Amino acid sequence: MLECQQLTKRFGERLALDALDLRVGGGEIFCLLGANGAGKTTTINLMLGFHTPTSGTVRVGGVDPAADPHAARALLAYIPEQVNLYPLLTGLENLEYFVQISNGRRYSRDDLMGYFTQAGLSSADAGRRLGEYSKGMRQKVGIAVALAKQAKALLLDEPLSGLDPKAANEFCSLLIALKERGTAILLATHDLMRARDIGARVGIMRAGRMLAQRDTTELTHNELEQVYLDLMRA
Ligand SMILES: Nc1ncnc2c1ncn2[C@@H]1O[C@H](COP(=O)(O)OP(=O)(O)OP(=O)(O)O)[C@@H](O)[C@H]1O
Ligand SMILES: [Mg+2]
Repeated sequence: MLECQQLTKRFGERLALDALDLRVGGGEIFCLLGANGAGKTTTINLMLGFHTPTSGTVRVGGVDPAADPHAARALLAYIPEQVNLYPLLTGLENLEYFVQISNGRRYSRDDLMGYFTQAGLSSADAGRRLGEYSKGMRQKVGIAVALAKQAKALLLDEPLSGLDPKAANEFCSLLIALKERGTAILLATHDLMRARDIGARVGIMRAGRMLAQRDTTELTHNELEQVYLDLMRA
């Protein structure tokens, strides 16, 4: 569903991504780990068609996001670290708005409320202004958008940072539920423990390169941490 082959991105002299190979299939969670500046956000931005590759290819459901960003984004939902929605609109109105601009469809209030509650938000929250929501609640509106537009793939850029342990745990359960519905999930995170818990595979990046990919079943938490630290030191 998500595929990069020898994907390279330069910003002027700076090599942000260096021949990255990555595949994430439907029903799979892949966690991208790596130091600050490793190229995780750049990878996600290339999938969204926000940047064009310097060389190599990126495909979203077979679509080249640089050539046809609308077609690629129709298949995707994206949850950045800070989900920026309209603070004066209610949670449900935000959901309605963002689903409509992404696929042009109108949903009944009951349908929207169904997606809203499936994303772990309460019907009481639906009528509250988004400006009153916590970070974790705003992230869940992003999940509701993914559910409503039936996104084939979900891209998340450090969605767990700043969530309290209960909110992070709930959020991970939502991701697992989406995975079980067949969504391909690419998650950039610094949280090794949760990456190992929810990801089928993890990829460790440094300075634009994918240094290692591992099946999480092969590794304990401690082993993953050791592999990560060894790669950062090497
Ligand atoms: N628009 C841009 N213009 C110039 N350089 C950029 C741009 N976007 C990213 N870079 C550079 O590309 C490299 C990779 O950055 P990126 O944001 O992808 O890293 P990251 O892995 O997401 O890091 P972090 O963990 O800090 O979020 C960095 O050296 C960064 O300075
Ligand atoms: Mg980043």
